[in-house]
Amino acid sequence: MGLGVDKRIVANITAIGGFVPENRRTNFDLEKVTETSDEWIVKRTGIKERRILDEGLATSDMAVEAIKNLAVTYSIDLATIDCLMVATSTPDMLMPATANIIAGKLGIENIWAFDINAACSGFLYALNMGSSLVESGRYKRVLVVGADKISSYVDVYDRSTNILFGDGAGVVLLEPSADQNGLLDAILMSNGTGKESLHIEGGGSMYPASETSIEAGRHFIKQDGKVVFKNAIQSMSDTCINVVKRNNYTMNDVQWLIPHQANKRIIDAVGKEIEIEEGKTLVNIEKYGNTIAATIPLCMWENVHRLKKGDLILLTAFGAGFSWGSTLLNWTLD
Ligand code: COA
Repeated sequence: MGLGVDKRIVANITAIGGFVPENRRTNFDLEKVTETSDEWIVKRTGIKERRILDEGLATSDMAVEAIKNLAVTYSIDLATIDCLMVATSTPDMLMPATANIIAGKLGIENIWAFDINAACSGFLYALNMGSSLVESGRYKRVLVVGADKISSYVDVYDRSTNILFGDGAGVVLLEPSADQNGLLDAILMSNGTGKESLHIEGGGSMYPASETSIEAGRHFIKQDGKVVFKNAIQSMSDTCINVVKRNNYTMNDVQWLIPHQANKRIIDAVGKEIEIEEGKTLVNIEKYGNTIAATIPLCMWENVHRLKKGDLILLTAFGAGFSWGSTLLNWTLD
């Protein structure tokens, strides 16, 4: 006998954790190395400072701290985790997967652990994968991490990127919901047309590390800010509107919009485009900049005291690929 519609398993977020490094890179620090100003950066991006992980440490170290924070705050025994999924585009190394390294550092053995690379959309991609695993009935405790040490790929002398990016990690635990409430729906997209506009070319199989690739600066993140900016607003807005509509809600029903934190002007433009009430959008970009796959879980984690059981929450992201999407969920934590 199959599962009846009313018996469908729904995944929900039952714990959350985060971590940012201590070390701050302020706009004033950047004034010293490139022709820019605090005033310009704040006006054009909303960013005041970012966190930078120490040399010698890697993405896995931040993820480990975020997971420990989750485990301590919510009394989670990590030995009970079925699956560890890490959204990152700055893995510690090309192989093994950062998820494997994290499991090793936490002493979790025999766990299904793997990475997902969808750049700044990575957390939403992973969240949907994680919820599908829970919905399948085969997995009961899935950790979904978003973590990036993007500072390893930022040319600190390039003012078109050094102002935007910082390091961080966030994590949520997904479990079957007791009352069939939680992650409701997701629309996730990619088109591959953004490759020229946002990329880190070096270090992959196309441009493996060599003197010439390093001389050409291929190991740094490069972007055409204007193209990214325009595509981000349209793509995030469209999927936000569609996911709300196809679940028979209106934007007035949404209590919180938690967008990827890439640029405050992008966040404001999306808010305007989808006509969400002012004050319903959560923003922390001023403190951390764009932490790639970590922005959404970090913003959720920092604002967890504001999220109330039953709140309808809309998440949206856009990143390299291009890749983008929106997720609708009911908050189920007290
Ligand atoms: N400091 C000071 N001046 C700067 C500067 C900086 N860091 N960067 C550019 N400028 C100057 C330019 O030279 C230009 O001068 P001009 O008018 O004399 O030619 C002027 O400021 C405007 O530059 P422009 O590139 O048009 O700025 P912008 O408004 O597009 O802002 C970004 C640049 C990068 C902040 C913006 O395009 C952006 O955020 N794009 C999206 C990036 C993103 O989100 N990436 C990740 C996606 S997940």
